Amino acid sequence: MEPRWQGIDLQGKTALVTGARTGIGQTVAIALANAGARIILHGHGGAMGESEALLPLDRHLTTVSVDLSDREAASAWDSVLDAWPVDILVNNAGIIHRQPFLEHEKEPWDDVLQVNLTAVFELSQKVARQMSQREGGKIIHIASLLSFQGGINVAGYAASKHALVGLTQAMANDLAGYGIQVNAIAPGYIQTHNTEALSRDPVRSEQILARIPAGRWGRPEDVAGAALFLASDLSNYVTGHTLVVDGGWMGR
Ligand SMILES: NC(=O)c1ccc[n+]([C@@H]2O[C@H](COP(=O)([O-])OP(=O)(O)OC[C@H]3O[C@@H](n4cnc5c(N)ncnc54)[C@H](OP(=O)(O)O)[C@@H]3O)[C@@H](O)[C@H]2O)c1
Repeated sequence: MEPRWQGIDLQGKTALVTGARTGIGQTVAIALANAGARIILHGHGGAMGESEALLPLDRHLTTVSVDLSDREAASAWDSVLDAWPVDILVNNAGIIHRQPFLEHEKEPWDDVLQVNLTAVFELSQKVARQMSQREGGKIIHIASLLSFQGGINVAGYAASKHALVGLTQAMANDLAGYGIQVNAIAPGYIQTHNTEALSRDPVRSEQILARIPAGRWGRPEDVAGAALFLASDLSNYVTGHTLVVDGGWMGR
């Protein structure tokens, strides 16, 4: 059954979603827009036409292109945030590098930490400084089951996603007094481009499915439902939390 999201009202809010060209980010952006928020889409250079076309016309504020792996790119956000102060920030963009630990190279390690963690810190700090002036806001990081587990051949990714949970709690503590809630979502196995190879591998996909009590892989819509809750006033007393959306995987 398609999820129904009536009842969450984000009218008058501006939301920035990173990595909104595909997958979870695209679906979260559409869900926030359908709940009434005006959206700043972030991409990475690829064509954003599909995401733009899927938003209600009056809800698309602008599309921004920033390469989050560029260590010098943080200042690229300044003009955007000056023009459109953000009420809801979803730090969704992320990359994974698969390589056994004994061979894991330093460069991809640095890239994964830069995109998944340092860029999140830098953008969140800029947005939170603005939010603190306006005494309110919602910041949502997209973590992972590998915020709690080590995975296989993904040392940099697991390290970055574990760190996101710590960052979520640290930010929540420092920002609660300003009326800003900071939470994370840890998606389970969600069908996106990111997991295409995994879901096509008959052995791994069967092993994964066998451990999911819900009996199916997740869909981006499953994550979007949690994001809507954390973006709305329904979660005003929820902060520093990482919400697992995994069909029951972690409890197994
Ligand atoms: N799918 C899952 O099962 C799963 C599970 C747990 C956590 N997650 C997390 O969910 C988030 C979204 O992943 P997804 O599954 O939706 O995969 P996806 O479709 O590959 O989305 C990843 C997004 O990150 C963006 N991105 C990658 N490198 C970037 C860079 N250097 N600068 C700016 N943006 C960059 C991509 O932009 P371009 O497309 O323009 O390159 C893309 O929009 C990630 O943080 C991922 O770790 C996913």
